[in-house]
Amino acid sequence: MSFRPQPPAPSRPNRCQLFGPGSRPSIFEKMAASEADVINLDLEDSVAPSDKPGARKNVIEAIGDLDWGRKTLSVRINALDTPYWYRDVVDLLENCSERLDQIMVPKVGCDADVYAVDALVSAVESAMGRTKRIDLEVIIETAAGITNVERIAASSPRLKAMSLGAADFAASMGMQTTGIGGTQENYYMAREGKKYWSDPWHWAQTAIVAACRTHGVLPVDGPFGDFSDDEGFRAQALRSATLGMVGKWAIHPRQIELANEVFTPSEEAITEAREILAAMDEAQRSGSGAATYKGRLVDIASVRQAEVIVRQAELIDL
Ligand code: COA
Ligand code: MG
Repeated sequence: MSFRPQPPAPSRPNRCQLFGPGSRPSIFEKMAASEADVINLDLEDSVAPSDKPGARKNVIEAIGDLDWGRKTLSVRINALDTPYWYRDVVDLLENCSERLDQIMVPKVGCDADVYAVDALVSAVESAMGRTKRIDLEVIIETAAGITNVERIAASSPRLKAMSLGAADFAASMGMQTTGIGGTQENYYMAREGKKYWSDPWHWAQTAIVAACRTHGVLPVDGPFGDFSDDEGFRAQALRSATLGMVGKWAIHPRQIELANEVFTPSEEAITEAREILAAMDEAQRSGSGAATYKGRLVDIASVRQAEVIVRQAELIDL
């Protein structure tokens, strides 16, 4: 470890982020009653331009009126290249209740984008005498965003989470696909007449995880568009979890359970992690830096790995 220790990520459950258009208030109660850890009410791309003012009003009302339980409540505003984003921030923070936890900023391309939103949020918060500090989350979904990902992760103490937005990312990168995440038919290697599929999202995901872990931000996998493909969703989510991401979006209610299943550590994994910690405790008491657990080496690095799993379990109250 270098002299400066790695900061811990925010301690909140973030296994599933459920999205819903701000222009469709009939689903808000279902969202509030769902098993998702985070709710993202959307003012951006799922809302038509003519519906933006109405969607803001719906969202402001619902934040105050509905019982959102212990969920993290977030609103996705419009991107900084639109005429809508400042009004999203101002209307929200001048009018909505203190129940709002977070604002999500899409299509972030550089750290100055976050700085601009932070400055506006700070000004309205202070003018209105709001006591709860609003957190920020960002979506990396452009070539500029992934190029500047490390500086974006370091951009503001308000920043708590960062997601990969596969569809806009693919468009910005000029990738030849219209799929939103998941397996891409043309991304394979071939040998002796057989195809071996690979994962075109891997690099961007890993870059996001590294930037987030360096600066104490939660790395999250974004949408999986084909909500009738449970197997594809599960495969993508398992890969993200293995790479260090803490959760995934749901763009339809049937994806919530799938995400929760993948990002909740299994009973076996929790038991094993606790046993590794106990084995290392025992080893260290007898003056040894390593031990054998189930026939394999465990050392201080295994303790850090096991602690990640135990911490996740504690957050979810397992
Ligand atoms: N959250 C909570 N409930 C939802 C929901 C959501 N995002 N989407 C649909 N539902 C509800 C429906 O109201 C319906 O409820 P009912 O059984 O009480 O009638 C049930 O889930 C089944 O819905 P279904 O008919 O399969 O879907 P739909 O055609 O109503 O909607 C989508 C499909 C994709 C348009 C819708 O899920 C949606 O808008 N998703 C979010 C899109 C979004 O926010 N995109 C931005 C981020 S990428
Ligand atoms: Mg997008």
